[in-house]
Amino acid sequence: MAQKLAGPGIVVVGGQWGDEGKGRIVDSLSADVDAVARFHGGNNAGHSLHIGEQSLVLHLIPCGIMRPDKICLIGNGVVIDPDVLLGEMDKLSTHGIRCTPERLKISRNAHVIFPFHKSIDASREALSSKIGTTKRGIGPCYEDKIARFGIMIKDLLSANVLRKKLSAIVKNRALLSSPDIVVDDLIARARAWGDKLAPFLCDVGDVVDELFRRGKRVLFEGAQGALLDIDHGTYPFVTSSNCVAAQASIGLGIGMSHLKDVLLVSKAYCTRVGEGPFFSEGTPSEQERFRALGNEFGATTGRPRRCGWLDLAALKYAVRINGATGLVLTKIDILCGMDTIKVATSYSSGKHRNLGFVDAMERWTCGETIVPEYETLGSAGPMPSSVNKIDEMPTTTRDMIALIEKTLEIPVVMISYGKHRGQEFYS
Ligand code: IMP
Ligand code: MG
Repeated sequence: MAQKLAGPGIVVVGGQWGDEGKGRIVDSLSADVDAVARFHGGNNAGHSLHIGEQSLVLHLIPCGIMRPDKICLIGNGVVIDPDVLLGEMDKLSTHGIRCTPERLKISRNAHVIFPFHKSIDASREALSSKIGTTKRGIGPCYEDKIARFGIMIKDLLSANVLRKKLSAIVKNRALLSSPDIVVDDLIARARAWGDKLAPFLCDVGDVVDELFRRGKRVLFEGAQGALLDIDHGTYPFVTSSNCVAAQASIGLGIGMSHLKDVLLVSKAYCTRVGEGPFFSEGTPSEQERFRALGNEFGATTGRPRRCGWLDLAALKYAVRINGATGLVLTKIDILCGMDTIKVATSYSSGKHRNLGFVDAMERWTCGETIVPEYETLGSAGPMPSSVNKIDEMPTTTRDMIALIEKTLEIPVVMISYGKHRGQEFYS
């Protein structure tokens, strides 16, 4: 596969609302690269991996950590909850994986999630308009960054800097009366984080640049998905970072010219956790079936995921905003368990037919009801236990892949048909 990819930098991003199976695809592709980098989001992500007998979920550390010879990078665009990061390092060590400063490199400029960010996130969810966030403090942390009083990982190294910056946050957010903000306690806690994380901090952009200069390859591991992007997603029902491929450049501090390959990952159906529009959402019984077959429960929060049919109109939009060069299709085996397969190709609203995603979103925002127009493909029958090429797949799934390629105008380059490492092939 690596030979087929053109550039030194390969970006893997979600094409839906997250949970497309990016983790297992990154795990597979990382065999052919030298480093894996995260460039946005935080521990709202949950990348599930099933390797041999081991199953684990990574929230912050790139999935490349599962291969001992890979360097893992966490870029400036990521927001880091130090307790979660240190906990994840401990968890990996119980699986025999050591996160040393030689292997794990963290941007000095990544912003830090503090306990009060989580409290703000949770209180908002309880009190005001519900987004259905993961309550991990992601949004409030990015707010402080954009408001220019955020605290970066490098600030954890100095009690003086922490005092100044924490006081500014308390003042700016008018949180003085909040019982959980005791600046001295926070400084003590943050300094302990700083001492533990200091050996891992560096200029990650420089590390990537140096790797490229030496002819090495880097895989950029996206989190969440195109439709959760703060600018291009189903606003306001989105996360607080840019999830599209261009963010790989900004979230690590490297030039765009290195990024030639953009792989968009999509499930063979659709899921969403949290609130917001989901035009191809299934009937209650279809959703139940998807959930049961595909174990569609959040890897981060355990929430049951909303489930529905592959939406090619939305995916076409995701191809455009990412500049995707290839599609990776996951969980096709789950789709094979459905009695009949449906694929949304456009939408209608009232007397308007053949609407694209952007038009449908505009109308939905104005209160119109959006109905997907489906192509029905019939049932697929079971997926063989081992598949190496498209020809070995059930006919209905081959028809579906032809429809996807025709609609999206990019090739399906990789297909996964089970949750374990190895249950995927390149087409
Ligand atoms: P936040 O990122 O926690 O602020 O949540 C904002 C929205 O994004 C909610 O609908 C979440 O369920 C969703 N979300 C955030 N991260 C993920 C993810 O990794 N997978 C799926 N949904 C996510
Ligand atoms: Mg996930």
